[in-house]
Amino acid sequence: MEQVINYINSHKDSYIEELKNFLRIPSISTLAEHRKDMFTAAEFVLEKLRSAGMENVRIIETKGHPLVYGDWLNAPGKPTVLVYGHYDVQPVDPINLWDSAPFEPTIRDGKIYARGATDDKGQMYMHIKSVEAFMKTKGTLPLNVKFLIEGEEEIGSGNLEVFVNTNRDMLKCDAVLISDTSLYGPGIPTLTYGLRGMCYMEVEVTGPNRDLHSGTFGGGVDNPINVLAEMISKLKDSSGKIKIPGFYNDVIKLTKKERDNFKRLPFSEKQYAKALGLKELKGEKGYTTLERVWARPTLDCNGIFGGFTGEGAKTVLPSKATAKISMRLVPNQDPKKISKIFKSYISKIAPNTVKLNKTDLHGAYPIATSLDDKATVSASKALSKVFGKKTVFMREGGSIPIVVVFAKKLKAAPVLMGMGLNTENLHSPNEHFNLNHFHLGIQSSAYFLEEYSL
Ligand code: BES
Ligand code: MN
Ligand code: MN
Repeated sequence: MEQVINYINSHKDSYIEELKNFLRIPSISTLAEHRKDMFTAAEFVLEKLRSAGMENVRIIETKGHPLVYGDWLNAPGKPTVLVYGHYDVQPVDPINLWDSAPFEPTIRDGKIYARGATDDKGQMYMHIKSVEAFMKTKGTLPLNVKFLIEGEEEIGSGNLEVFVNTNRDMLKCDAVLISDTSLYGPGIPTLTYGLRGMCYMEVEVTGPNRDLHSGTFGGGVDNPINVLAEMISKLKDSSGKIKIPGFYNDVIKLTKKERDNFKRLPFSEKQYAKALGLKELKGEKGYTTLERVWARPTLDCNGIFGGFTGEGAKTVLPSKATAKISMRLVPNQDPKKISKIFKSYISKIAPNTVKLNKTDLHGAYPIATSLDDKATVSASKALSKVFGKKTVFMREGGSIPIVVVFAKKLKAAPVLMGMGLNTENLHSPNEHFNLNHFHLGIQSSAYFLEEYSL
């Protein structure tokens, strides 16, 4: 191991230069004008897998953005680890709030700033470098490794799900190693054992058949924006409970043990609020902030639009208004069931003055993984070794839709070994990744492969 770690240490700077090249590719999966960039990013990953010594490397086309695959299966009798990550990134808007351009990676204060730095290019890249370090120093890996890197995580992983379902033999593995989550705090080795799921809906309200002069018609007809706002206000009560009948039916209650474990983690509500520029926090009554963001379901409006939104004033009574509403789910809620009851409740509270159009945007199942799988134990040991501290176990509020599919369809243990920080502005302007965590992540990945092979 010493050789491997020495190799990683002596290549610290060149890894950062390579990561910069990766971050320069604007691989925004949700925007059609970036379709070519998705291929460029996939090819970048492919090239790096190849030069790291992976075999059978290839681009796999899908109905959407391509997958990248590569493996090294020359350790018979040893376990197989599937490394998953995503090369797609979120849009950059609002662009004027970036201190440096989102696709011109810039290092400030030991952090690399760029869209995708922490989510997930930087984190995913760590594993390519750790296998490379083994291959370049020993010419071999301690166990079997498969890489499956996708370009549609940020848009729900629909095509990857189809691919996993139809290629179970090819993807067969014992554990799935993923770095696409966070550390509990800087320098704190962390494994995530739970992710929330998601049910994302769009609701469009249509009133009159065209935009109207608000003087001529105002007072005579209902206003879709007002109607939509009223409907949204009926989705939750003042104590933060979601009012959709049956919404909480399948929610697994937090155990006393888990609540106690959460309470043992250092956490200051005051600092949390201050860092967000808030005077006060807000959430479901009866739960702590960590419980609310990790283990309780939520409902939030992500965007709302309609009518005149340009500069100045235009007197108009709009024909349409739309809201994008997401619900974060916890075990054992089912996004399909939630979508159904959401639609029927939203129809029930809509007045007769408007027509409704409801669309499913995407869904993801929540997950809580076992803490005693051999892969989890190995990861915990590897992290403690590298960080010099006991590994913390936590849940996360975010979602990675494919994790449940891996767990169910491949019967493999997910290992969520994230190196990001929740303060690194993922999905926001000035996204960044702490380069020290990048470096520790490469080492952790290497130690994990070694430890899990024993
Ligand atoms: N890496 C995140 C998920 C994440 C963020 C996990 C923070 C833990 C902590 C992932 O790229 C992501 O953003 N997922 C989306 C999924 C959605 C598009 C289905 C999310 O959570 O909103
Ligand atoms: Mn991610
Ligand atoms: Mn993301």
